[in-house]
Amino acid sequence: MKFENSIIEIINQRTSRRAYKDLEIESSKLEKITKILKKEFTGPFGGKSRFEIINCGFDDPSEKRRLGTYGFVRGARYFIIGILNQEEKNIVDFGYNFEKIILKMTELGLGTVWLGSTFRYSQFEDCTKLKKDEYIAATSPVGYSSDKPKTYEKIISWSIGSRKRKPWSELFFIGDFSTPLTEDIAGKYATALEMVRIGPSAANKEPWRIVKEKNSDTYHFYLCLSRKQSTDELPPMKQMDMGIALSHFELTVKEQKIGGKWMKKNPNIDSTEKNHYYIASWVGK
Ligand SMILES: Cc1cc2nc3c(=O)[nH]c(=O)nc-3n(C[C@H](O)[C@H](O)[C@H](O)COP(=O)(O)O)c2cc1C
Repeated sequence: MKFENSIIEIINQRTSRRAYKDLEIESSKLEKITKILKKEFTGPFGGKSRFEIINCGFDDPSEKRRLGTYGFVRGARYFIIGILNQEEKNIVDFGYNFEKIILKMTELGLGTVWLGSTFRYSQFEDCTKLKKDEYIAATSPVGYSSDKPKTYEKIISWSIGSRKRKPWSELFFIGDFSTPLTEDIAGKYATALEMVRIGPSAANKEPWRIVKEKNSDTYHFYLCLSRKQSTDELPPMKQMDMGIALSHFELTVKEQKIGGKWMKKNPNIDSTEKNHYYIASWVGK
């Protein structure tokens, strides 16, 4: 996906918005969005997903729209629906693709908020043509958000602690999980790591942990869970969070003309005690 503005600025601008003006999106912009969403999306590890924009319509009373998100989102007419096939196990790639769409909507001047749990599945299912074996993995309203955050938005944001982020020392390491990585040592990768740090995550849990190899620009991405889990059953929402981390990192390094690629290259750092689960590695050139 192409961005016309600096991705660093867009990532900094993005914030969850839950109150929307009852306004239509102009047809030229809607066409652009429909075109963006039309293709099948594939992530760095081959995971496929697709996305649709739905319009809840003029006749849909605002109360009904609100109920579709249990009152968490108010006033929104349009939603982007993220769809996965039941067979698709790569949810990291879904998160990676959906976040790119969210950032593109931010660039277009539209508000969004990832909804992984606070949406009424059946209500969205009614508005979407799901194929057999497909399901809605996450959704986001998209539209013109209120100029200033409404009081109830501030309360939700405050109760989740949405404005806070963990410091570098708790997220980024060098060699193994015992030595924090400093911005100085990260050097040209410092901005990409910072863009991961300020990204959104479910309930703002920031589950990403990254270990840089000592003598190379290889960065290993781990998912940090609060308890042990089978690697085949990593929680979907946390996998989406990891996809967000991958997308922010990759978009930033690409903008900065830093070469490299994603690989599965598990360094087998002792991480079981910490409940850290290996996801992927960025191997810099
Ligand atoms: C995978 C994922 C699922 C989320 N699910 C919900 C949700 O169901 N309801 C909600 O109100 N916010 C949801 N959020 C938004 C987060 O609470 C929000 O991104 C986080 O608190 C950080 O705040 P910010 O986006 O304003 O930076 C979700 C975010 C992510 C990444």
